[in-house]
Amino acid sequence: MYPILKAEQLAEKIFLMVVKAPRVAKNCLPGEFVIVKTDEKGERIPLTICDYDREEGTITIVFQTAGASTEKMAKLKAGDAFQDFVGPLGNPSEFVKEDVEELKKKKFLFVAGGVGTAPVYPQVKWLKEHGIEADVIVGAKNKDLLILEKEMAEVGNLYVTTDDGSYVRKGMVTDVIKDLVEQQGKKYDQCVAIGPMIMMKFVCLLTKELNIPTIVSLNPIMVDGTGMCGACRVTVGDKIKFACVDGPEFDGHLIDFDAAMKRQQMYKTEEGRALLKQQEGDTHHAPNGGCGSHVK
Ligand code: NAD
Ligand code: FES
Repeated sequence: MYPILKAEQLAEKIFLMVVKAPRVAKNCLPGEFVIVKTDEKGERIPLTICDYDREEGTITIVFQTAGASTEKMAKLKAGDAFQDFVGPLGNPSEFVKEDVEELKKKKFLFVAGGVGTAPVYPQVKWLKEHGIEADVIVGAKNKDLLILEKEMAEVGNLYVTTDDGSYVRKGMVTDVIKDLVEQQGKKYDQCVAIGPMIMMKFVCLLTKELNIPTIVSLNPIMVDGTGMCGACRVTVGDKIKFACVDGPEFDGHLIDFDAAMKRQQMYKTEEGRALLKQQEGDTHHAPNGGCGSHVK
C-alpha cells in the first residue's frame, strides 16, 4: 500500500496529493508518469508526476476529477492509501539527457494550461536546480482555477494570464507568447507546452510560425497507460506512436492534433472503439503483452 501523507483541494475539481512511494521517488525524472489504483477493483489512472522528494521518498500528484474513478480518488484523505502506485513510467523529458553546459546556452519557454501546470512544474524546477532559467506562461480560465502559482514563481520567470482577465492579464497563453516574442523581442530555442489538447494545438500552430521547436505532452489521450488499450495511438510525422509507451512527450509540430482529438472522442464510446478497430485493425493491441512494440 502507498500511504497518502497530504491531500488538498487546489481549486474546483483539482486535487493535490503527496504519496509515500520511495522507489518511484528515487528513480523518477521530469516528464515521467505513474499509474495509480485506489483499490483492487479500481481503474488504472495514469498521472504525470508533479513533484518528487527523493529524501522523503514522496511523489506529488495533481489531478482533475472527470468521472467515477477520479471522484473516488478525490475522496481519499491523508492517512488513506493507494492500492497501487506504479512508476516511473514513460520517457523523461528530452532535456534531462542533454549536457547541462549546452542547456545553459538555450532559452526555454514553458507554456502551461490549467491542470497541465502540474507536469510543467518538475521540468522548470529541474532546470532551475541545474542553473538554467526559464520563462513560464501559465494560463487558467480564471483566478480561482490558477494552481501552483507560488511554486512556479520560485523556479521560473512567471507570466500569468486568465481567459476572463480576473487575474494579472486577460487572454490565452498564445496571446502572451505573441507579446513576449513580437512585442518584447524575446527569442526562444525550445518551447514546452502542456495543457489541454486544444491549447497545445494552437501553441504549436503559433510556434511553428515563430520557428520555435515545441515539445508537447500527450498525457490527456492516455487511458490505462499500459500500452494495451490503444487509446493513446497517435500519428507523429509519418509514424504511429503510443503516448504511454513512446512518449508522453513528442515534437508538437509533427502531431496532427485534429486527428488525435477526433480519435480521442471516438475512443470514449463503445461504438467509436468498434469503428476504430475496423479502421485500424488490431494494431492497437500489443501482441505478447509487448507495449506497442509492434509499431516501432
Ligand atoms: P483550460 O480549458 O482551463 O485551459 C487552460 C488554458 O489553456 C487556458 O487558460 C488558455 O490560456 C489555454 N487555451 C485553452 N484553449 C486555447 C486555445 N484554443 N488557444 C490558445 N490557448 C488555449 O484547461 P483545463 O480545464 O485545466 O484543462 C484540462 C485538460 O488538460 C484536460 O483535458 C486534461 O486532460 C489536460 N491535461 C493535460 C496534461 C498534459 O500532460 N498535457 C496534464 C494534465 C491535464
Ligand atoms: Fe492505453 Fe496508451 S494509454 S495504450
